[in-house]
Amino acid sequence: MEAVIDETKVNRLIDEMTLEEKAGMIHGAGLFRTEGVERLGIPKLVMSDGPLGVRFEFKDKEWIALNLTDDLITYCPSNSSVAATWNREIAYAVGDVLGMEARGRGKDIILAPGINVMRTPLCGRNFEYFSEDPYLIAQLAAGTVKGIEQHDVSSCVKHFAANSQETERSWVDVHVSERALRELYLPGFDAVINEAGAGSVMGAYNLFRGEHCCHNNYLLYDILRKEWGFDGLIISDWGGVHDTKKAAESPLDIEMDITYDFDNYYMANPLLEAVNTGEVAEGYVDDKVRNIIHFMIKHKMMKLVMRTDNDKEYVYAERNEERSSGTYSIPEHRQTVLEAARESVILLKNDKKHLPLDKNKLKKVLIVGDNAIRQHANGGGSGELHALYEITPILGIKSHLGGNYEVDYTPGYYVPPREETLKNWQETSLMDESEKKAAEIKFAESFSDKHAEYRAEAVRLAAYYDEVIYIGGLNHDYDAEGYDKADMKLPYEQDKLISELLCVKPNMTIVMISGNPVAMGDWIDKAHSVVWMSYAGMEAGNALADVLFGDVNPSGKLPMTIPYSYEDTPTARFGDYPGRKLTEEEKKIIKAHLTERYNEDIFVGYRYYDTYDVPVCFPFGYGLSYTAFSYGEAGCGVVDALAETVCEINIDIENTGNISGKEIVQLYVGAKEPKDGYAKKELKGFEKILLEAGEKKNITFKLGKKAFSHYHEDKGKWELEKGIYTISIGSSVSDIKTTIDVEV
Ligand code: BGC
Repeated sequence: MEAVIDETKVNRLIDEMTLEEKAGMIHGAGLFRTEGVERLGIPKLVMSDGPLGVRFEFKDKEWIALNLTDDLITYCPSNSSVAATWNREIAYAVGDVLGMEARGRGKDIILAPGINVMRTPLCGRNFEYFSEDPYLIAQLAAGTVKGIEQHDVSSCVKHFAANSQETERSWVDVHVSERALRELYLPGFDAVINEAGAGSVMGAYNLFRGEHCCHNNYLLYDILRKEWGFDGLIISDWGGVHDTKKAAESPLDIEMDITYDFDNYYMANPLLEAVNTGEVAEGYVDDKVRNIIHFMIKHKMMKLVMRTDNDKEYVYAERNEERSSGTYSIPEHRQTVLEAARESVILLKNDKKHLPLDKNKLKKVLIVGDNAIRQHANGGGSGELHALYEITPILGIKSHLGGNYEVDYTPGYYVPPREETLKNWQETSLMDESEKKAAEIKFAESFSDKHAEYRAEAVRLAAYYDEVIYIGGLNHDYDAEGYDKADMKLPYEQDKLISELLCVKPNMTIVMISGNPVAMGDWIDKAHSVVWMSYAGMEAGNALADVLFGDVNPSGKLPMTIPYSYEDTPTARFGDYPGRKLTEEEKKIIKAHLTERYNEDIFVGYRYYDTYDVPVCFPFGYGLSYTAFSYGEAGCGVVDALAETVCEINIDIENTGNISGKEIVQLYVGAKEPKDGYAKKELKGFEKILLEAGEKKNITFKLGKKAFSHYHEDKGKWELEKGIYTISIGSSVSDIKTTIDVEV
C-alpha cells in the first residue's frame, strides 16, 4: 500500500529549492501550519489538535477562534474513557473517526493520541492519556493510531517522552532510570511507531536528563531514529524548542510554537543565519525537508512528477488525486462514539443491587451536581473543541425517561463561571500558571457560603424524591492542560454534600465524572451505588442513562488505580514530585527550573499498590457488571522459551447471571518469588468477551517472550529470565480468580 518513493526525484526537488524555501517548511508559519513551496507545488502542512476530536479553527496567526459554523465536530471520548473500555476495536473505531474527520476538515496531521503514562493522579492532562500501565496504553493507542492512519492523515503521538506533569512543564528536568524508561515510559511509543505505523511524533516540553526533549539526541536520535528506525516526522510541542543549533542538528523536523513571531522561531531566520555563517551545515536542513517530502508522499498529499519548462526539466510536486477526502460529523461517527461511551462506563459499587434503576418504580427523580448539566467539550486545554452537540447527563436521563416522569435538578454546589476572554488561553500557556491557578482554586473554594446554601437546598429536596442521582466529580477547571491539581480532593465541598445526601437518601446513585482519580474515602463506605466515567464525548449523557436504566450492561474497568488519597500514591511516598528547584551550581549547567527524579522507578500505579500491599479505594482493572462471571481453572499449553509464543494459557469464563454482559479477563505475570525492585505482577494480556446469559467461552492467551522479560540496565537490553512465573488471571489486579505457575 505504501507509495514507492523515487529518491532521485526527491533529491532533485530538494536541489531546486532555495534555503529560505526549505527553512519555511521546517517551522510554523501559522499557528497550525508550515509553509509550502508554491512554485514547486509543495503544499503547506496543516495540523490540528486532538485528541478528543478535531479542534475548532483559529485565525492563521493569532489565538482567536474563528467561531465558524462548519467546524462543529464529533466529540469523541477522551483517551481516559477509551482506556476504560479495554476494547481494542473501540480504540480503533475512535481512531477511525478522528482520522476521517481530520481529513474531512482538510488536515494533514491530527495531534493525537496523547499516550503519556498516568504517573500521578494530580497531572492535569491525564484525561488525554490512557492509563498507568504501559501494556494497556500500547494495546489501545496502537488501535487508535491504526484507525487514524488509514485516512491519509497522520497521527502525531505525544508527548515524547517522560511528560507526566504540567507543573513547570517546559522547565522540569526529568531523571528516570533506564529500566523504568524502557519498561514504563517507552512501550506505548514503541507500539504506536513500530506496530501501528504512526506518521509523526511530538517532542515533549520537559527536559530529559538535562536536555529539552525536542532536541534531545538520546530520545530523538538514539532511540527514535536509530533503535526504532522511525522515519516519520518529529514535531516539537508548541514552544518546545530552545536552541537553533541543537534543534537543527537533532532529528527534530519541524518547530512549532505559540508565539506570533514566526520568522524568529529558532528554525526560521536564526537558522538561516546559522547556515549562512557556516555554524550549521545545510545538510541538516535538507534531511528535515527530505523527511517532510517523504511524509507528504506517503500520506498522499502529493506525488512527484517531471515537468518541462523552457526546455528545462524539473521535478514538480503534484496534488495526489487519490488521497481520501474524509468527512466529519456524520451519523455513523456519533454511533461509534455512543458505543465507545457506553463501554467506558464503570460500575464501582452496586451493593444493594439498586442499579439498574427500575423505571416502573420511579416517578420523581432529583438530579444533583453540576456535572449533570455541564458540557465538557470546550475545555481542558488544547484538547478543546466545538462539538456538534453534547448530551449532558441530565439530557440523557430526561430523554431516556420521557415526559411521564418528574425529573428535577438542583446544583448542590457552586461552580464559579469561567472568565470569558476573546483570546485563547494558549496565548500565554507557556508561562508558569501554577500561581494563577492556585489563586483561581482559592477563589473557587472561597464560596463556602454559597456551597452551604446550595447544599442545604439539595439535602432538603432529596427527601421528597423516589430517586436521587448525584452527578459530580471534576471538570476542566481541574482536569486541564498547563497545571496540576493540588490534591485529590473533590472540589466545591462535594464530600460534605455527598455525605449529607447519603444520610437522607442512603440508596442515592452517585456518578463521578473525572479524568483523574479523586478521593472518595469520606463517603465511599456509606454509598451503595457508584458509577464512574471520564469525559466520554458528545453521547456521554445517553451512554450514562443507558447504563443507569439497564439498557446497557456496564462493562468498563478502571485503567488506573483509585487510591484513597494522594498521600498513598508512589510519587507521594517516594517524594520527588513535582521536583525541586535547581541549586545555583546546577543552574550553571542545566537551563531548567525544577529537577525531578522518578524515585518510585517502575513502581507506578498498581505496580506499587499491589507489590507494597497498600490498600486502595478501587484497584486497577476493577469494574462490576449487572451479571456475574465465573472463572474456571487456568490451563497451560506448551512452554518453550525459544518459541515466539512462550506459552499458551487458556481458561473458561462463564456468565452465570441472567443477562448478557461483557467481561474483561485480565492476565498478569510475575516471578513466583519476585526479587527486590520487581513488581509482584504486571499486566501482559486481556480479552474483553461478550457472553450471553449462561454462556461459557474458552479463551486463550498467547504469551510471547516480552511477557517474561525485563530491561537489564547493565546489559542494555530486554532479557527473558529463567525461572518460575505465576500467571494470575482475574477480573482486576486485586481480584485474581486463578493462578498457574509455569517454569520458563
Ligand atoms: C500542547 C500540545 C498541543 C499543542 C498545539 C501544546 O500546548 O502541549 O499537546 O498539541 O499545544 O495546540
